Amino acid sequence: MKLCMIGTGYVGLVSGVCFSDLGNTVYCVDNNINKINSLNKGIVPIYEPGLEEILKKNYKQKRLIFTTNLKKAVSNSDIIFICVGTPTKKNSNSADLKYVFNVAHELKKIINKYKIIINKSTVPVTTGDKVEKILKNLKNKKLIDVVSNPEFLREGEAIRDFIYPDRVIIGTDSKKANKILKSLYMPIIKKTSRYFNTSRRGAELIKYASNSFLATKISFINEIANLCEQTDVDVKDVSLGMGSDQRIGDRFLRAGPAYGGSCFPKDTRALIDIGQKFKTNMSIIKSVVNSNNSRKHLLIKKVKSILNDKLKNKKITFLGVTFKPNTDDMREASSIPMINYLNKKNCKITYYDPSGEKIDFKNLKNVRYVNNSSTACLNADLIILHTEWNDFKLLNFRKLVKKKNFKVFDMRNLYSPSKMKKLNIKYFGIGR
Ligand SMILES: NC(=O)c1ccc[n+]([C@@H]2O[C@H](COP(=O)([O-])OP(=O)(O)OC[C@H]3O[C@@H](n4cnc5c(N)ncnc54)[C@H](O)[C@@H]3O)[C@@H](O)[C@H]2O)c1
Repeated sequence: MKLCMIGTGYVGLVSGVCFSDLGNTVYCVDNNINKINSLNKGIVPIYEPGLEEILKKNYKQKRLIFTTNLKKAVSNSDIIFICVGTPTKKNSNSADLKYVFNVAHELKKIINKYKIIINKSTVPVTTGDKVEKILKNLKNKKLIDVVSNPEFLREGEAIRDFIYPDRVIIGTDSKKANKILKSLYMPIIKKTSRYFNTSRRGAELIKYASNSFLATKISFINEIANLCEQTDVDVKDVSLGMGSDQRIGDRFLRAGPAYGGSCFPKDTRALIDIGQKFKTNMSIIKSVVNSNNSRKHLLIKKVKSILNDKLKNKKITFLGVTFKPNTDDMREASSIPMINYLNKKNCKITYYDPSGEKIDFKNLKNVRYVNNSSTACLNADLIILHTEWNDFKLLNFRKLVKKKNFKVFDMRNLYSPSKMKKLNIKYFGIGR
């Protein structure tokens, strides 16, 4: 089939590359010319394991085309995927849909034969109705079907998630569109996943409900971790004990920093806003958002107490700053408020992240980037293990750090407290 992905970010690029690998011809369009130029040179603008290899293979075979020419890409395609961002609007909880609506207005000028328009971006329930309204003339002439097909891939695991999804959700009441999309997805549905056709509004809501539920699980175990710290219980045992119950499940039950990233924070806020618009009190999600915000302050307080409230000139090393491993995405990473605070308090911060230096910290006077764990740890008073990249799982802190009395704050509970005690290292974890 011939497909067009509008937006070559984490979702559009990964989906486009994977669809091309399944034998489709895929036009990947972005209005950011630098991104398209890089992609045409084989440079992948995001850190996503495995992506570059598949991209290069399909680009060579001319099944992947990177362009800024929306008209050409849409005219040559049967199925159009909208994969643009839906960030939170400034000073509000609501999702900013201007990128989605801008695309719809562009499509209105271009389409003159039947196309399926798919919203893959995460959008509030009823957004599909609004897109269809913009394209009313085309809908009346039966030239389009507007479908919701939310994406569930995770950064860092995106290729595997796309090829082996737990489910493929198609929100449409058009039999024609559903039939075409079922055959598009057939190569991956056959493997493990469930193909699920529901209403367009249903599909839109499934995405927000799923992300908000996962965020709830994280916040829940984080609060249990707070209680563990007061009662001398190891939260890892609680996670294991709870997670062994199949009704609960063990995933997303690992205590750590406040959840971050490009999805959970904005999607939980947006669900509160959608509830408000439809006069429904989303009280659980409201408390999840509050709990997560408090967690950012709580962990800063914990760093202060680890350093006995003496922050000035303390040498602090961050191992990992991204919101999770195997991605370079810094959107709403909990390291941002923490490093900003410590910078203001004149701590001397060194950080290393395997995905490279971050623009977020470039202009902070007390923060510097180094490109390996050894240099990062050498002079540390405190090492904060912020992100669980594999690189940080087997470190010999005694060898890495020059000082005798350094401390380790393991925000991901990667190390054993008893082993650290044996090494005479002052070790602090989460909920233990
Ligand atoms: N990142 C994830 O892990 C993830 C997972 C599932 C769903 N989602 C959802 O998918 C959507 C996209 O997320 P993302 O992380 O890929 O976003 P992103 O910000 O990485 O990428 C969006 C891209 O769209 C481009 N764009 C914006 N307007 C355009 C236009 N008019 N024409 C062409 N290109 C345009 C931008 O230049 C950018 O490259 C969001 O709604 C997000 O919530 C994201």
